[in-house]
Amino acid sequence: MKIKDLIASEIEKAFVTIGLSGPALVKTTSNPELGDYQVNGVMAAAKKANLRPDETAQKVIEAAKLDHIATKVSYAKPGFINIQLSPEFLASISAGTLEAASETMNIVVDYSAPNLAKEMHVGHLRSTIIGDCIARTLEAKGHKVIRQNHVGDWGTQFGMLLTYMADLEQDSLLLSDLENFYRLAKQRFDLDADFKERSRQAVVNLQSGQSFETEHWGKFINVSMSHCQEIYKKLRVGLDNTHTFGESSYNDALPTVIEGLEAKNLIEISDGAKCIFFEENKSPLIIQKSDGGYLYATTDLAAIKYRIKELNANRILYFVDSRQSLHFKQIFSVANLAGFNPNATSLEHMAFGTMLNDDGKPFKTREGGLIKLMPLIKEAIRRATETVLEKNPTMPKKDALEIGETVGIAAIKYADLSKNRTNDYIFDWDQMLSLEGNTAPYILYAYTRIQSLIARSAEPINILEECVIPEGESERLLCLEIGKLDDVVDQVALEGFPHLLCNYLYALSTRFSQFYENSEILNQPQKTKTRRLSIAYATGITLKKGLSLLGIDTVTKM
Ligand code: ARG
Repeated sequence: MKIKDLIASEIEKAFVTIGLSGPALVKTTSNPELGDYQVNGVMAAAKKANLRPDETAQKVIEAAKLDHIATKVSYAKPGFINIQLSPEFLASISAGTLEAASETMNIVVDYSAPNLAKEMHVGHLRSTIIGDCIARTLEAKGHKVIRQNHVGDWGTQFGMLLTYMADLEQDSLLLSDLENFYRLAKQRFDLDADFKERSRQAVVNLQSGQSFETEHWGKFINVSMSHCQEIYKKLRVGLDNTHTFGESSYNDALPTVIEGLEAKNLIEISDGAKCIFFEENKSPLIIQKSDGGYLYATTDLAAIKYRIKELNANRILYFVDSRQSLHFKQIFSVANLAGFNPNATSLEHMAFGTMLNDDGKPFKTREGGLIKLMPLIKEAIRRATETVLEKNPTMPKKDALEIGETVGIAAIKYADLSKNRTNDYIFDWDQMLSLEGNTAPYILYAYTRIQSLIARSAEPINILEECVIPEGESERLLCLEIGKLDDVVDQVALEGFPHLLCNYLYALSTRFSQFYENSEILNQPQKTKTRRLSIAYATGITLKKGLSLLGIDTVTKM
């Protein structure tokens, strides 16, 4: 249930009754003493009609029909309205349910997109995790999400890798270590002029569809892709081979892109290369090199065309590092100028900052190399398992491992998701695994407390599932928090900021702890006991729902 919309629609009806217009602008309040929600739109509406904001607010309060949801509707200077929701209304909220969006869209989510020449490294983590969360969130709101893993499977590096592979004649064995394979091929490439020339030729052969190169390339891509799949599976990321639509898929469409741009007179030749110049900044977008080769931007333009025309996208979201901001600005503008975007599909670069280590430097190995993902994930699991065993020394190793796996992965994902993505972010083991603060362990711990409370109570679930009217302020505030889920998810679906959902889950867990620590639950007369257990149960459902949108599994013990 979307509480904000409900309040807004009543207020806007009241506006109309007294001859005003404008959005109600409903926000949650920071001071619960005054109310739970605040209406900010009165002042603008009054101003438009040349009326005094204080008198107008009073009139809106009189005209608004809020009795069925609020116990208190009050005026605050200079023209605000504060609203406190009634316990009866809060009882009508069904925990963890989301209303489908009023207009369902086809939304392409472009995320993860590693370069397949190498193993996945930390540089791919943010796109993979954040993009996956937004894909889940949009799906939960009823949109048709089309995941696109725009993998780098077509660059010039493949010439070098294929030539090296052909020379070895025993590809499959060595490919098990992609990183090493790449390093050796590159060494050879840098030292051996003949190898370099053959590599160049191999790219040409590959891109024009010669069978020898295509076959070797296919083998290489399979090995590299299955390595990505292992990571996705481990991270509980919802990408599989059906979502892979890499750069190579657009090979045949590239000449048409150039034709389209030429037809609109957008192309200028500079040093033999086909370029598009922009007034607002000097660096041009190169579309085709002087030797005829196409570039990253050409492929992205073909992808925009395909996504708009074939996938019928209403929105296309790109989860890519903010260092590519100029690239996206340019290709979006070119797509519009070239007429590739006839229905004004919304093209959105959901940029994110770089992952840094605890001294604020880019996250690298001691030798200066990129940190590979699999070892990082394993380290998180190891650390989390260790903590579980410390806290539960008698727990069977097998159980501890299972919990450690879920918590460790949750910790890595949550640490990333809980930060505003536009900033750089510091990767800090101690912080992400801490049981205190806005962390996965804190929230998962709140969840386990609820589960153990319910198990100890032995209360039948069907009774706990019934909606109850909260009594007293700590119960009411917890129910209020439970009711906010849908509003938050809506905002995340629109803006693509997972940290808003994390902040919400943290606030909900904190409210739960306050409730849990201040109210006796099990040692109570039956009616009170059932009511409090029901509220705890609803909290658990809401936490689980929210975590599932983040791509995080729950545990029942920690
Ligand atoms: N493979 C690219 C990289 O590693 C990211 C691709 C992002 N998606 C896109 N449509 N350009 O930088």
